Amino acid sequence: MEVVSDIASVRALRRHYGDATLGFVPTMGYLHEGHLELVRRARRENDRVAVSIFVNPTQFGPTEDLSRYPRDLERDLALLRGEGVDFVFAPGDGVIYPPDFQSSALVRGVTQPLEGARRPTHFEGVTTVVAKLFNIVRPTRAYFGQKDAQQVVVVRQMARDLNFDLDVIVCPTVREPDGLAMSSRNKYLEGDQRRAATVLNRALRAAERLWNEDTRDSEALRAAMRDTLAAEPLARVDYVSAADPQTLAEYEGAIPAGAGVLLSMAVFIGRTRLIDNFNLAGAAEQPGE
Ligand code: PAF
Repeated sequence: MEVVSDIASVRALRRHYGDATLGFVPTMGYLHEGHLELVRRARRENDRVAVSIFVNPTQFGPTEDLSRYPRDLERDLALLRGEGVDFVFAPGDGVIYPPDFQSSALVRGVTQPLEGARRPTHFEGVTTVVAKLFNIVRPTRAYFGQKDAQQVVVVRQMARDLNFDLDVIVCPTVREPDGLAMSSRNKYLEGDQRRAATVLNRALRAAERLWNEDTRDSEALRAAMRDTLAAEPLARVDYVSAADPQTLAEYEGAIPAGAGVLLSMAVFIGRTRLIDNFNLAGAAEQPGE
């Protein structure tokens, strides 16, 4: 496995691979099973596999956790060696954002609700770095986790709008045995907080039960999530949502017959902000990814 930190070396590797298909997994490191599942799928579906490790400063707001975001490059590299990755691109901040950097990739509509409403600069940071990584690595397929449901919608929109010549592949959320979605930020949870964090999954399951009993009242789905969250004293709700999975527009009243729903939420457990979602298919669709 090669580990490179400059753009010229990535381009040389890509040239060397010629027509081989390249699967790409962009990450911010501190890898867990969720990332490794993306890598394994990329390994199965492509001749070559590349992973990037870059904690992207532009997607963190001024009061967010950039400085304490967990990092362990050596451990990450050891895990990736075990998965048969061909190369890792681990650039420094100055490689991605040189001093005279002045551009960005901006997606409008689908970045506005949900995470975008609470973290106004977040998605511009994500799309800018992902566009740069796509241009540097030039993958055949890029792999993202459903855990970041809105990110997936936003990246797909950008890839379509800006004609990136690649497929965006979405893989299911990987969970701990007790239902907690895997996230690098779970490391922040201390003592009772780890147990309390399972309330996100329980809230989503409460709404899913209603959905499976044919409840299509979006307010009833949101109320089921809110009620479950309210029963956990360590949880502070940022938002709960029942939205159109494609447009991310919040449903009001009855969900149209046959349509699916993206149930999602952001919840503080102590100082740690966790997100999770279920993408539930309607009768007219295939099950959500
Ligand atoms: O999902 C992430 O880890 C990040 O948002 C990504 C896609 C690597 C961009 O920094």
